[in-house]
Amino acid sequence: MQVFHTGAEWQKNWLHALQTKKSIGFVPTMGALHEGHLDLIRASKKSTDLTVVSIFVNPIQFNNSEDFEKYPVLTDQDLSLLEKENVDFVFLPSVESIYPQKPTLSFDFGKLETVLEGAFRPGHFSGVGIIVSKLFNIIRPHQSFFGQKDLQQIAVIKRLVADLSFPIEIMVVPTRRETDGLALSSRNMRLSQNEREKALILFNSLSFAKNELLKGEKWLEIRNQITQAFEAEPLAKLEYFELVDPESFHVYSEFDPTKNSSICVASYIGNIRLIDNLPIIP
Ligand code: PAF
Repeated sequence: MQVFHTGAEWQKNWLHALQTKKSIGFVPTMGALHEGHLDLIRASKKSTDLTVVSIFVNPIQFNNSEDFEKYPVLTDQDLSLLEKENVDFVFLPSVESIYPQKPTLSFDFGKLETVLEGAFRPGHFSGVGIIVSKLFNIIRPHQSFFGQKDLQQIAVIKRLVADLSFPIEIMVVPTRRETDGLALSSRNMRLSQNEREKALILFNSLSFAKNELLKGEKWLEIRNQITQAFEAEPLAKLEYFELVDPESFHVYSEFDPTKNSSICVASYIGNIRLIDNLPIIP
């Protein structure tokens, strides 16, 4: 496994991959790796000849400075996990090399900015768009792998790739869950034992709502029940619980089994903000 820190160092490896007709798979991460990330890496290794993983906690996508400051950094542990997965290359850039100056450019993803994550985290998707564009320009992969847990981020990245004509295929990997259903997230390691137990309210609500929908119950009534359940949990602070089209993020007020839909949730558990989603497949 080769670790590199600058685009210039990667250039010769990229050229060599090109000359030897090797396909490049890219997994961008912010580190604090867990099995969910390893699923992305395994998917990349299966589908391409060479896998590059980046670890970079991108300051400009955090709209909450405490979330940024407390974001777990576990580089040594991450590198040994990547070594075990037989990753070919790891890109570990410094903040100064990625942002020699504060970007003046910003992205506006239109309607995607006005709902759910877009509405609750102003500027977040612009920051994601900037770093992912930079990483795509540096690594120049054939395929890039993202987790379904960040469903709206996938919609944003697909728009980015289409609007800027990046010649990169976006590959989506299903959410990895703990045995009780909690979606894996680097933020889970900041939960206390009690918060960890209470965090299950996200997955339990999604599963309950999905079952009720499939039984024919009305979406707005189900949502009402869920909102009350969150209100009754002192450690939880619900931001949204919505039924959406997973591509356009159009928010539905009723369930139509002929349309593609997913339920998305965001809630604080204590001071930790968690998100999750479940596709509804009738
Ligand atoms: O999903 C993430 O971890 C980040 O948003 C990403 C795509 C690595 C960009 O910083």
